[in-house]
Amino acid sequence: EFDVEVDLSRLKEGELIRTEWMGKPIHIHRRTAEDLKLLDKPSPDLRDPDSEESTQPMSAKNRYRSINPNIFVSVPLCTHLGCEAAPRFDAGAVDLGGDEWPGGYFCPCHGSKFDAAGRVFRGLPAPVNMEVPPHDYRDGKLIIGL
Ligand code: FES
Repeated sequence: EFDVEVDLSRLKEGELIRTEWMGKPIHIHRRTAEDLKLLDKPSPDLRDPDSEESTQPMSAKNRYRSINPNIFVSVPLCTHLGCEAAPRFDAGAVDLGGDEWPGGYFCPCHGSKFDAAGRVFRGLPAPVNMEVPPHDYRDGKLIIGL
């Protein structure tokens, strides 16, 4: 069995759990209403807003890149050269390059920025959006790797 089962009952809004699946890091973020509001706004700065070129299950091929909009499951590896990107949902208050980045995931290696759905900003080295691993919900638990 290669599935990883995660109980999300204690994950509060704004919190993130890190786990691993198949040797890759996995982030599970319970989004805030503010995160969802930002994802509802179309952004001209995204390289691939509809995630046509990235890897995600069909059930997560939507604007939130998730089955349940409140929960974002990602492989937080930068699609440039594979560094682990850091969650920076405080970016509104932090200057990480002076552009209009609303926060999300920041790659410390060469500065790629991703939004709260792992979608990369234009003009930065990462070519595609972050991977969303196969996952589903069973008996109220999150299962990664179906
Ligand atoms: Fe992330 Fe290069 S590895 S920007």
